[in-house]
Amino acid sequence: MSNELNKYSKTLTQEVTNPAAQAMLYGIGLKESDLKKPQIGIASTGYEGNPCNMHLNGLSVYVKQGVQASGELVGLIFNTIGVSDGMTNGNDGMRYSLPSRDLIADSIESVVAAQWYDGLVAVVGCDKNMPGAIMAMARLDRPAIMVYGGTIRSGHYKGQSLDIVSAFEALGKKFAGNISDEDFKGVIQNSIPGPGACGGMYTANTMSSSIEAMGLSLPFSSTYPATHEGKQEECKKIGAAMKNLLEMDLTPSKIITRKSLENALTVVMALGGSTNAALHYLAIARAAGIPLTLDDIQKISDRVPFIADLKPSGKYFMEDMLSIGGVPAVMKYLLKEGLLHGDCLTVTGKTVAENLENEKDLDFEAQKIVFPLSKPIKSSGHIQILYGNLAPTGAVAKITGKEGLHFHGTAKICEHESEIISALANGEIKPGQVVVIRNAGPKGGPGMSEMLKPTSAVMGAGLGDKIALITDGRFSGGTHGFVVGHITPEAFEGGPIALVKDGDEITIDATTRELTLHVSDEELATRKAAWVQPAPRFTKGVLGKYIRNVKSASEGCVTDEA
Ligand code: FES
Repeated sequence: MSNELNKYSKTLTQEVTNPAAQAMLYGIGLKESDLKKPQIGIASTGYEGNPCNMHLNGLSVYVKQGVQASGELVGLIFNTIGVSDGMTNGNDGMRYSLPSRDLIADSIESVVAAQWYDGLVAVVGCDKNMPGAIMAMARLDRPAIMVYGGTIRSGHYKGQSLDIVSAFEALGKKFAGNISDEDFKGVIQNSIPGPGACGGMYTANTMSSSIEAMGLSLPFSSTYPATHEGKQEECKKIGAAMKNLLEMDLTPSKIITRKSLENALTVVMALGGSTNAALHYLAIARAAGIPLTLDDIQKISDRVPFIADLKPSGKYFMEDMLSIGGVPAVMKYLLKEGLLHGDCLTVTGKTVAENLENEKDLDFEAQKIVFPLSKPIKSSGHIQILYGNLAPTGAVAKITGKEGLHFHGTAKICEHESEIISALANGEIKPGQVVVIRNAGPKGGPGMSEMLKPTSAVMGAGLGDKIALITDGRFSGGTHGFVVGHITPEAFEGGPIALVKDGDEITIDATTRELTLHVSDEELATRKAAWVQPAPRFTKGVLGKYIRNVKSASEGCVTDEA
């Protein structure tokens, strides 16, 4: 094998001036012949504590077997962290979730660069793991492939299919007196049947599908459930794919391009993916040095219809996609309809169009999960970028059209996510209100918490189509209903959301894409003059560091820019 394939690791393994590094590599069991081979870092976010990541260390062993199968590469597994949003218990734990994305990026970058690996495989399974890994790949620009841990199978209880959102919604039903104690327990005990990421088109499946469309995972990576035999097969194929990437010197900068980012966002819109995709693709683009703005995301939303009947707003789970040809079949259809760029390179070494040539066509007679473009759920994307005097530098809304396109109501302020839970429990949330959850932004939260518990509890309480929620925090990919998040500037920085008072009138208009606070400029100026910036909630540790470094949500909440 040519030395060029080990152009990074040879610094350690071949140079006579690095005897200690070579001694250590012999110490871990490598032979003299191994030291001539390219070294592939296999990053796993595996850990036993949650279903999204519990099986990833096992998958990374299959990846290593595949990498070493030809005898021409050395695979070395290392770990990085993962935070499961479903287990953060609202704001306090959730504060660490988005920062974990950047910690993952930083830690993968650190290990691969410090240890001189020639290639990188990231085995990842939850919302933040995937964008974190891709950001590291973009920064490192060495041959790299992402392996998605796979979606979870659905749970079952009394004839109903369940997932993680069912457990959250059970809480709202409990508040509303709509569920027995036995069924409440039954739902919780049966929602999660084993390993895999949350099963709807929530953030994990949104990111995995769109990263596959961007070309950084093998075809079907986002479709195989975690426990499907295809997932193990995928892991074993990574070795051959990596060797090919090394030989072609096909690095992420040749795969992550303006066009491939558009492909990723096109798949997000078509499948009805999470609003978090907006945040993460802004960050991935910045890591890759490619200009991408909220307005670019809006342009893609304008031209791509929402066509998949997947949860959270629809009926089906990601596992159901396998029987209809998975994400490749959807991509093939979008390509045929001129919505994808077919000439983008991917980790197979081939283009998007070449990868899709022999994939299944969607059969619109036989399946009801993905609709034809002529009969979409919504004729444009569900992710809408709003502006207005409440969001001068942008906000991200998820509007499927099922809730309507316009909401006008009076403000009900919640200074903390937990306040809406107690307000719901006390019956203080009334139809017609716009619930404003603020000081939940990247700096103010800190960490831009997801309103997973509030939105699910609102749904469970039967208020989903009667109220709107707006916040400078984020919404879980499992959210449905009339929601606007990522409001910028955030309250902590004195954005207008900090100035709203209970009873103020607010309009959300998805047609004109405006978020309007019906308070005069003079009154807002008076309120602003009286506003005092709150003290940061943390000054030390991960969150203190995050507050000092994080950019606004409209800039992807990146932490590595001046
Ligand atoms: Fe990990 Fe949902 S909490 S995928």
